[in-house]
Amino acid sequence: MKLLSVDGLRNLVASLGQTAFYGAVLETLEWDFVRWGEFTKTPRLATHYPFGVIELMPCADRQFYTFKYVNGHPQNTQRGKLCVVALGVLAAVESGYPLLISEMTLLTAIRTAAVTALAAQSLARPDSRHLAIIGTGAQAEFQVGMVQQVLELESLSYFDIDAKAMDKFAGNMAASGLQLKPCHSIEETLKDADMVITATAAKRVNDLIQLDWLKPGVHIHAMGGDCPGKTELGQALLTASKIVVEYREQSLVEGEVQNLDDSAVHAELWQLLAGQLPGRESDTELTLCDAVGFALEDFSIIKLMYDYSGQECYRQYFDEIAMLPTMVDPKDLYGFFTSAPGVSSQP
Ligand SMILES: NC(=O)c1ccc[n+]([C@@H]2O[C@H](COP(=O)([O-])OP(=O)(O)OC[C@H]3O[C@@H](n4cnc5c(N)ncnc54)[C@H](O)[C@@H]3O)[C@@H](O)[C@H]2O)c1
Repeated sequence: MKLLSVDGLRNLVASLGQTAFYGAVLETLEWDFVRWGEFTKTPRLATHYPFGVIELMPCADRQFYTFKYVNGHPQNTQRGKLCVVALGVLAAVESGYPLLISEMTLLTAIRTAAVTALAAQSLARPDSRHLAIIGTGAQAEFQVGMVQQVLELESLSYFDIDAKAMDKFAGNMAASGLQLKPCHSIEETLKDADMVITATAAKRVNDLIQLDWLKPGVHIHAMGGDCPGKTELGQALLTASKIVVEYREQSLVEGEVQNLDDSAVHAELWQLLAGQLPGRESDTELTLCDAVGFALEDFSIIKLMYDYSGQECYRQYFDEIAMLPTMVDPKDLYGFFTSAPGVSSQP
């Protein structure tokens, strides 16, 4: 079985080049969304705590089964820990044997950003030049970098309640080629924005954006609210928006739409990507992608990693973990167990 560590992934991406890697992630994810019907899908299994959530996210097609372990602990950063950490497993459906264990903290940030970009392709005005982001924590730079793959951005305004997070973001984005506009409030950040990303972490019901702060035709991508009782947008904004979600069954429990019914949802993202339903239909409509994170997105990126692991030039970035050897008698697990030197064979 293969293992992709955080360092293995960083080295793999360095050898591929970040732009090429982001491009491959986008292409793979779009293809997987389009073949939506081929997947066994289920909402994630979430265990809630007053301070956070721990989740298991399974997904499978006919060949591969994946799951991700992931958390969301908004207060973690106050004690030097990430809000979101994750690991993933890919297994062969035919035998059930695991094939790859992967770090998924970075991969979650990257696949989440890829969802933002794919949604923007269908929902943002193609001439969008000014991106605004609220919340400049761990996910933020990935979000902007991926959107730059699909929109010809020129400027980026940003705001966070934590000044240090804004400074960190400015440093990381210095080479982005974008005109950076640090702001003192959400209202100021949204001025003239064509697209807005909300990426805040707070386990509460929030109402970050007033409708009259937005110019006509804005696309909002809300990805920070992803649990019951953890939302970023208010009722007035939701009612005024054309809303797209990833997977209705999960989003109606966890998303911005958690207090609305199914009729509030225009489409699932795959329906736009497959050309089944229209995305943006006018330059003035307000569009909203209510993204909570869906297991198919993890399937897609961990399968991409597995594909890299099979290519000679990228094999060096993966470690091997010894699992069970091919056994002469697969029913004699006990005999195998006790054949190790020094282990008693007494039952
Ligand atoms: N939709 C998905 O698929 C997905 C994937 C990963 C993370 N998330 C969620 O995205 C959010 C951000 O994740 P992260 O890893 O960047 O967290 P993080 O803690 O690193 O960053 C969040 C930032 O939001 C800021 N913030 C909080 N409230 C704010 C407010 N009212 N206005 C402005 N800034 C505010 C914080 O100061 C912090 O800098 C989390 O809630 C996480 O659970 C969603």
